[in-house]
Amino acid sequence: VLQQFDTVTLEPIEIFTYSASGGGIGQGMTSAHPGVGGEGMWDQGAVYNYLLDITAEPPVYQVFGIQPNGEGKVLANITDAPPAYIHSIFSTENYVIMIIWQCDFGPPSKENSGILDLIMPWNPERPVYFYVIDKKAGGVVAKYKTSKSFFAFHEVNSFEENGDIVVDIPTMPDASWLEAARMESLRSGLGNSDSGAFDLQSIFQRYRLSDFANSKIENGTVLEREAVLDFELPAEIGGLELPRINEAYLRKPHRFVYGIHTEKRGYFMDSIVKIDTKTQTSKIWSPETNHVPSEPIFVARPGSKGEDDGVLLTMALDAATSKSNLVVIDAKDMREMGRAKMPIAAGYGFHGIWGQERIGYD
Ligand SMILES: [Fe+2]
Repeated sequence: VLQQFDTVTLEPIEIFTYSASGGGIGQGMTSAHPGVGGEGMWDQGAVYNYLLDITAEPPVYQVFGIQPNGEGKVLANITDAPPAYIHSIFSTENYVIMIIWQCDFGPPSKENSGILDLIMPWNPERPVYFYVIDKKAGGVVAKYKTSKSFFAFHEVNSFEENGDIVVDIPTMPDASWLEAARMESLRSGLGNSDSGAFDLQSIFQRYRLSDFANSKIENGTVLEREAVLDFELPAEIGGLELPRINEAYLRKPHRFVYGIHTEKRGYFMDSIVKIDTKTQTSKIWSPETNHVPSEPIFVARPGSKGEDDGVLLTMALDAATSKSNLVVIDAKDMREMGRAKMPIAAGYGFHGIWGQERIGYD
């Protein structure tokens, strides 16, 4: 369910679900990060997401779009993929991509107390499935799978390029971090430099879904092809989570990626990384003393020239004082430009969302 709040008083206004948009949109589990229509693109203001019904036999992912006029439409029903905990839905300019990585739900049971308790043991043989769905006409137009399994949370960016779809995604080799991130294990495990099990750290991977417009169809079924791993970066260079890019490049070819990074194993997240996907190198901002930084938000310089012409904002909690700092980092060279020290430990901000009001710039 979605809970609407008054932005000033925080009074709850209304609880509603995606099904209120009509168009046959049902109920079920959904992702925390819906796809949104691109700024200046044909579907600006649209929202895309899925609803997973794990009680159906077989389980169904209903992928839908809600257009800017508020009208809902079911785009596809996926019934041949394992039911899994999928945290984000991906999108290019014209397609929604459902990536069914491994974090599979077992049968629902009344004895289970939460989502984590439903997760099945890791199966190294289980491929990851990619479904390409037409935003406008609906329907699965192409299907891909990887031979190697992975778990993931977030999309870096996805875009169409020369007949292929390129997907940039931070991945984990398995879903064990979910167990490690339980409060009790974080309390006992964090700061233990012998283990990286508690670190919120994935590695950067780029997949290519080749020639997606020319899928083979047999008996009305789209045949699976191999998702090509273009490249991946080792943890020292490409270790990241909570990925961000310059938002002007969403759904378009981009070069730079920013995210939280872990330099010292066992420290959860202790630095900020900038990955250059062209040279496959990275630069790291690492504070002199231990801090826990938040998702770095890229803010373009007014009148900026170039993709990395701007700053990163991160809320960094100083481990020595337990107080927060808003740190401003030059996105070009990853040097700290300045910081606003706070008298309190402040919230980390709204993960996945950044609002900006341009006042007085012109
Ligand atoms: Fe998230």
